[in-house]
Amino acid sequence: MALRHVTNAWGLILVWLFLSHQVVQANLILPKPPSTDGGRVKLNINAGWKFWRSEFNPDGLIYDQRPDLGEANFTAKILKPWILPSGNDFISDPAKHHVRPAGNPGGDVKYVQKTFDDSTWDAVDLPHDWAINGPFYTEENPIIGGGMGRLPVHGVGWYRRKLSVAPTDAGKSIYLDVDGALSYAIVWLNGNLVGGWPYGYNSFRLDLTPYLKPGNDNQLAIRVDNPPNSARWYPGGGIYRNVWLTKVSPTHIGQSGTYIISKDVSTKSATLDLVVQVETKAKDSQKIDVQTDVHIFDSVTGRTGAKVVSFPKASASVQASEKQTVKASVKINNPRLWGPVPAQKPNLYVAVTRLLSGRDVIDTYETRFGIRTVVLDGTNGLSVNGKKVVIQGINNHHDLGAIGAAFNTRAAERRLEQLLELGCNTIRMSHNPPATELLDLADQMGILVLDEIFDSWEIGKTASDFFLIFKDWHEQDLRSFVRRDRNHPSIFGWSYGNEVGEQYTDEAGAAISQMLKDIVHEEDPTRMSTASENYATPDMPFPRIVDFLSINYQGAGIRDTEAYSNLAGIARQPLYPAYHANFPNKMIVGSETASTVSTRGTYVFPVTGYSSAPVNDTSGGDPVGQKVSAYELYTAGFGSSPDKVFAADDKNPYVAGEMVWTGVDYLGEPTPYYSARSSYSGILDLAGFKKDRFYLYQSRWRPDLRTAHILPHWNWPDRVGKVTPVHVFTAGDEAELFVNGKSQGRQKRAAYTYRFRWDDVVYQPGEVYVVTYKNGKEWARDAVRTTGPAAQLKMTADRTSIKNDGLDLSFITVEVVDRKGDFVAQADTSITFSVSGPGEIVATDNGDPADMVSFASKERKAYSGLALAIVRFKPGQKGAVTVTATADGLVRGKVVLTPHP
Ligand SMILES: *[C@@H]1O[C@H](CO)[C@@H](O)[C@H](O)[C@H]1NC(C)=O
Ligand SMILES: *[C@@H]1O[C@H](CO)[C@@H](O)[C@H](O)[C@H]1NC(C)=O
Repeated sequence: MALRHVTNAWGLILVWLFLSHQVVQANLILPKPPSTDGGRVKLNINAGWKFWRSEFNPDGLIYDQRPDLGEANFTAKILKPWILPSGNDFISDPAKHHVRPAGNPGGDVKYVQKTFDDSTWDAVDLPHDWAINGPFYTEENPIIGGGMGRLPVHGVGWYRRKLSVAPTDAGKSIYLDVDGALSYAIVWLNGNLVGGWPYGYNSFRLDLTPYLKPGNDNQLAIRVDNPPNSARWYPGGGIYRNVWLTKVSPTHIGQSGTYIISKDVSTKSATLDLVVQVETKAKDSQKIDVQTDVHIFDSVTGRTGAKVVSFPKASASVQASEKQTVKASVKINNPRLWGPVPAQKPNLYVAVTRLLSGRDVIDTYETRFGIRTVVLDGTNGLSVNGKKVVIQGINNHHDLGAIGAAFNTRAAERRLEQLLELGCNTIRMSHNPPATELLDLADQMGILVLDEIFDSWEIGKTASDFFLIFKDWHEQDLRSFVRRDRNHPSIFGWSYGNEVGEQYTDEAGAAISQMLKDIVHEEDPTRMSTASENYATPDMPFPRIVDFLSINYQGAGIRDTEAYSNLAGIARQPLYPAYHANFPNKMIVGSETASTVSTRGTYVFPVTGYSSAPVNDTSGGDPVGQKVSAYELYTAGFGSSPDKVFAADDKNPYVAGEMVWTGVDYLGEPTPYYSARSSYSGILDLAGFKKDRFYLYQSRWRPDLRTAHILPHWNWPDRVGKVTPVHVFTAGDEAELFVNGKSQGRQKRAAYTYRFRWDDVVYQPGEVYVVTYKNGKEWARDAVRTTGPAAQLKMTADRTSIKNDGLDLSFITVEVVDRKGDFVAQADTSITFSVSGPGEIVATDNGDPADMVSFASKERKAYSGLALAIVRFKPGQKGAVTVTATADGLVRGKVVLTPHP
């Protein structure tokens, strides 16, 4: 780095370092070799934290008054005035920027001080979720109930870590980048309050430079505070995403500081418009050049490939302590377009932007992006690159099942792989900003995203949710969210609200919607935005505002059929036609559909004759076991079976498609049994095992796949002679069912039906098989047999070779099988997992929403014949890992994992 750029306090420190070299050297970590790329370093600091949590306020600090705090309202030190300035970069009107008051609140709290002895605190690595290992609250009316997952997410958590500043860092600007911390994160460095960010799902940056000192004894302390009743689902607790130190020259590209738009896109050419935001912390103005090269990005290897085009060099003069926007445009020939799989390819590019001061490169910044067109249309739905894409989507919560909220790239990737197998092409990020790594995966794997930020605005849904901070933070949260995510080609639209209470407040609610929509458009004029509606109807003000209609449940109808007629609550005839009539030019998508609920592999009798029915204790529900029948006909009170949703879509072909509630079971919100821990709505269960419904969606979404799937299983010793309906999911149009060789009749698919059902089958042990046909030709077969008793444990890893970095995971499934190897579908065998070699079991699960054994337990009962162990290598250690599953009287299972070369 050229010395003339060292224009702040660091210049003095650099001089001091030269003068006192020998004294300082003992404290130094090895300097990095001189950088040829401007010296930007994004250093992961996930390792080596100390952590402590208190259920109750341990320090007399608070972001702001809160309804749950009672007495604490009157005694706690309110830090809000010192935190608000952290969002100034995202408030467009400079007159509204917050000025930091004098003083250093919290500086006297022992946890922020260097001298505090944290040796008794837990040693943790990030991402970290303090609540996931429980224990679960199983009593009635616990502090955290079923809605939030019955896990100890509440309280105040403190994280502490040392930071090092090497001589090569002198003169640099050093930022703390927190990808997500739940919630009300407040940061101190060396006893100084730096700032914070209340909304736990957003990412934020703080400038540490003024508080850092040379050497390795910088004390970082982060306080997070999760109120009870702060969510309608399991939030997790703590710093649950990655944390980084970003070190840059004082003149550098800002946070989320690039934006690339593609225009006039065809396979022959496209125009790229680039905006680079440059900022300087220097005391005098800086003349800089901006030079950007575009390279191919290889999605499979994650590597930067050949250079394809360069933007013309742009120059600017950046005023002292200011930000400056630099623009450039270039035409690219024969662009490789990004599009969703399987019909299109997710081609990506990476723009490498260099800031130059004279001939010196002073910063380098990479932006991944894709070139594509997205059109949302009232008649044709969604088109990408001119090709219609029917939205076959799911809603996704941020938790990763048994490993909780702590983000793990492999766990997220496994989920996306399973969703691709299902035929899913779209994910709605319900109802908060996701980890950016999940968006990277969606870009690379070719999956569309509806990116969503808020579950409430001014009107709350729980006592302490986002509504408490909406007035102060909506602009900062919304702008930082859109800026963070807008280069991801997978994102086809923004959702700035989900089922908000403002649907009920007519013009007042519509005005808030308009205000939020305007912010989104200012930050990203290229995409349409929406806020979902489960109450507002076409004649109300709410749908007038949004660019496209994001309809939850109302499209297929809510409580509109006989089976639901005795239920209270919102009732709607199917509203797609009325919406389309009122807003013929607005795309309509079912952003939440179905809310079908079921427990994998569990069947409750008798079976409803309806094609969609609400679950209750006498129809589809088992209140004792807290199970819901997996005939896949039972729904939440406001929901519909998949079959009913498919019919509504087929009758209204202008509808762009649906996003099912939900792709995978998630922690919390266990409708209909709130004494359980996790939801029943997934197509996959919490462990990632396929429910029967998987094959119903797969048959529709991948019609060329030779699917045939029979339910239920055929082990019913107490149902001999009793009516036991058999249903079949297939992409075929005819099916013939045989029970012990005897035909139960060949059926043709009727209009607007999506399953074959033989509701009068009488159970006798033996074999059930189905032969399906398409266009008169045999299509696919399936069979289920009555098995013998459980005899063996069969283990299968999703991958037997994984990286030994302590992050990569192997997901190991145990199937309980009989002597012949047939799957024993009702087995609830108690299984003990063990590991030999340099590995460890991270978590176990079985997908049963009512299983209250800690996810950390090495003992797990199979549920409906299956259990899961999630295993990783201890970082850096060599040699194979053997994972064993044992159960009394059964042949043990074994799987060997080797480190990825
Ligand atoms: C604490 O403050 C909140 C927010 O102002 C308020 O709703 C609540 O009633 C207060 N609690 C008490 C005990 O005063
Ligand atoms: C359960 O739902 C069915 C409709 O599927 C209804 O006929 C029955 O009355 C309901 N039972 C109760 C107890 O609400």
